[in-house]
Amino acid sequence: MSEALTEKRPTRPDSGAVLEPIGVQPLSVHTGALIDGVDLTRPLQPKTIDAIRQALLKWKVVFFRGQNLDHAQHVQFARQFGALTPGHVVFGHDDTYPEIYSIAKFRPANQNQAPPVTRLWSGWHTDVTAAINPPAAAVLRGDVVPPYGGDTQWTNLVAAYQSLSPALQAIVVKLWGVHRFSAAGTGKSAKEFERSVNNRPMVSEHPIVTMHPETGERVLFVSPSYVKSISGMTDRESQQFLELLWEQALRPEFTVRFRWEPGSVAFWDNRATAHLAPTDIYQTDFDRQFYRVTLLGEIPRAVDGTPSRPIEGDPIGSV
Ligand code: SIN
Repeated sequence: MSEALTEKRPTRPDSGAVLEPIGVQPLSVHTGALIDGVDLTRPLQPKTIDAIRQALLKWKVVFFRGQNLDHAQHVQFARQFGALTPGHVVFGHDDTYPEIYSIAKFRPANQNQAPPVTRLWSGWHTDVTAAINPPAAAVLRGDVVPPYGGDTQWTNLVAAYQSLSPALQAIVVKLWGVHRFSAAGTGKSAKEFERSVNNRPMVSEHPIVTMHPETGERVLFVSPSYVKSISGMTDRESQQFLELLWEQALRPEFTVRFRWEPGSVAFWDNRATAHLAPTDIYQTDFDRQFYRVTLLGEIPRAVDGTPSRPIEGDPIGSV
């Protein structure tokens, strides 16, 4: 089923004369849609930008195929949706393009070292929620893509909140979580990770349920790799309660799994999703080279409007 958007794109962007519809094909009931009929290598018409934004807000992650962007086009595409952050505030960026973060399979020393996958939620995360202003969104492109393996998964944290019982919703809207960096899921060696994080310490307290700044939806904001405790609870209460929420967030019906091809692009709303980078790539000799840029985010707010609280570190800036 493909939803034809009312927005049209010009086949000759500069003329503005000839318009064709872009298509939005949902990939699951709650999460993810494939967009076609748009060339991301060129500047987009405002109506096309708006149509993509609407699809993103609805489906939480949107995908494009066959785009083959270079670094400059990748940055140009993302900038049409807002200011950009440095590639990665802790792990660095490309020498020439400060907006680009290289996500390479970790070779050769750690080729066979996958991050440990010990629990259902291992490695799942929302990007950089240790920051007081986590990125609003991210654009990831596949450059070198393995012939099989290496899929990425996303989950819809709005659907996760909505499917909680009213009794539990009433409890979680009052809770706050402490977010900090940990090595699991980053694909970094312990030493490299420690060095980077010590250089840029970052800890924040965010509401367990945030209010999405554009849609007003309630989001179960429980980034598993970052939330370490629930404020005011004992360690045991906190761990058990978080596990309940993480299991809810990762229910299979809220997720989508994307099979990459060279030239594929994923654009996700980091305020409404968590995602899982693949670990199966460490079990083959295939290479994998991806690049990501992130859009600057606001300070999250609880449903009563209270903003998140910084504990350590500076806000993420723009480049
Ligand atoms: C990420 O976590 O942003 C990268 C996901 C991936 O490598 O598939």
